[in-house]
Amino acid sequence: MQVQIVEVGPRDGLQNEQKVLSAPEKIRLIEMLAEAGLQRVEASSFVNPKWIPQLADAGEVCRSLPHQSRVRYSALVPNLKGLERARECGLTEVALFMSASETHNLKNINKSIEETFPVLRETAREALALGMRVRGYVSTVFGCPYEGEVPLDNTRKVTNELISMGVYEVSIGDTIGVATPLQVHQVFAALVKDVTTERLAGHFHDTRGTGLANVAAALDEGIRIFDSSIGGLGGCPYAPGASGNISSEDLVYMLHGMGYETGVSLEKLVEAGAYVQQLLGRALPSKVLQAALAQ
Ligand code: HMG
Ligand code: MG
Repeated sequence: MQVQIVEVGPRDGLQNEQKVLSAPEKIRLIEMLAEAGLQRVEASSFVNPKWIPQLADAGEVCRSLPHQSRVRYSALVPNLKGLERARECGLTEVALFMSASETHNLKNINKSIEETFPVLRETAREALALGMRVRGYVSTVFGCPYEGEVPLDNTRKVTNELISMGVYEVSIGDTIGVATPLQVHQVFAALVKDVTTERLAGHFHDTRGTGLANVAAALDEGIRIFDSSIGGLGGCPYAPGASGNISSEDLVYMLHGMGYETGVSLEKLVEAGAYVQQLLGRALPSKVLQAALAQ
């Protein structure tokens, strides 16, 4: 049984870090992630650099991505300008993103949900015409930092809109890490009425310690693609209180123990986690990383 892991550490993981890493440091991290066997890596983000200063060097990083034929690299783009910047670097995959809740969407990308659809549709159309693969994200599915509970119908609507734009997969995000397994069952059971499981991914944050339990619940619903971040880095600057993504080391450890294959070497992943921990100068949240380093 195979599970695909989408490594989002270089993007989601770093975007909220105060200490700005250099482009060569980010490129070395990405190289270590690729060497660990990860086959999908989100390398950076072509958003307004004033909004996310840590990723202002997206162009420099994406122009120097390590050549690994097995590895697919992508980057976040919010609009045509972001797409153009991604294309100039030779990227062949981009990810569009928006929220299931109105206020987070507004704070994160400065538009209402309805205003966002045509912008993303145009961006998707252009990316597909360029022969790119296009992924989609829905944020705040399990709760919004500003509005609290988010109606499931919002998520269904945004997911279905993204699919209709031609995205090959939608990542269902617990942006602020409030989800519990029961809710994960309910959300995916509802979404698979419209979209097949092969086109859905789980994107969990571990803010309240439920991240891996939520992965187990999503596995039960047939989901086989998960986003995670090296060391458990992460957070959204426009989601107060959001902490790390689930850690790639912890995810791989759990999946291998459950009999799933990921193609990832846990030992090499720990080396990458140790590298980024040393760059940032503080202990990272990954439990498997800390356990390995303590031995
Ligand atoms: P805006 O201010 O409404 O944009 O921002 P605008 O179109 O009015 O343009 C204003 C300025 O931004 C102009 O520059 C544009 O050129 C520039 P000026 O003329 O003032 O010098 N601009 C850009 N520059 C570079 N690249 C671009 C770009 N677009 C416009 N692509 C915008 C709208 C979407 C750009 C802004 O709100 C933004 O950058 N937001 C990104 C915020 C962000 O990255 N948040 C974190 C990622 S989402 C997330 O973490 C959730 C996720 O991980 C899933 C989960 O956890 O659930 C995906
Ligand atoms: Mg995230």
